[in-house]
Amino acid sequence: DAEQTLSGKKFLITAGPTYENIDPVRFIGNHSSGKMGFDLAKEASKRGAEVILISGPSSQKVDDKNITLHRVTSAEEMFDEVFKYYESTDVAIMSAAVADYTPKVKATEKIKKNDNELTIELIKNKDILRTMGEKKSKQFLVGFALETQNEEENAKGKLVKKNLDMIILNSLRDEGAGFANATNKIKIFTPTEEQSFALKSKEDVAKDILNFIEQKL
Ligand code: PMT
Repeated sequence: DAEQTLSGKKFLITAGPTYENIDPVRFIGNHSSGKMGFDLAKEASKRGAEVILISGPSSQKVDDKNITLHRVTSAEEMFDEVFKYYESTDVAIMSAAVADYTPKVKATEKIKKNDNELTIELIKNKDILRTMGEKKSKQFLVGFALETQNEEENAKGKLVKKNLDMIILNSLRDEGAGFANATNKIKIFTPTEEQSFALKSKEDVAKDILNFIEQKL
């Protein structure tokens, strides 16, 4: 059994994609499988933490007495669920791939095909992590950055703009990193440090992330 190094700590972890409904049969989503977030939750729980795991649609499963799983669908639902638990959280890790935009109108009936082009107007979703940064008191706040270009600059920008204590960069330009894969390759930034890690299984990446966080608590 793992050493109970996180015993007494309350973790809030998000995982998976969000689905933004267009009509009753269609949605805008992304390729997140949820695995990174579920692996983080499982590792934190093994180390004795009490974990609230909030996941978008995902086939990942967990059966662990230290983890309470809340399933949501849209970014708006994830926002509401996160803020039920944020205040009492010690460490928050946001690994969900949250949609930045949602259809302005969600049609109540299936949209019918016709001869014209179809335009869907999108409006901005609230940024969950940024709002957490604004409301931060005692929480150690950790974000992810999924990038395809100007990776480090963008990650560091998000660290500052969202008032984070730490950000974990994964780049889709690195083979085996990011979505769906069972592996990931990360680089961690805090306001004063940075550390690169090799390509590893997501279980081992979760260990590296939690080892890093434990040094900061
Ligand atoms: O689920 P897997 O298949 O295992 O894949 C894991 C992963 C690639 C999804 C994961 O490692 C990851 O990178 N998650 C973050 C994806 C993402 O949305 O990154 P971003 O750079 O767009 O967002 C930055 C941060 O802001 C993230 O912590 C995100 O959760 C948060 N965010 C973004 C938008 C929004 N409206 N609210 C948010 O809280």
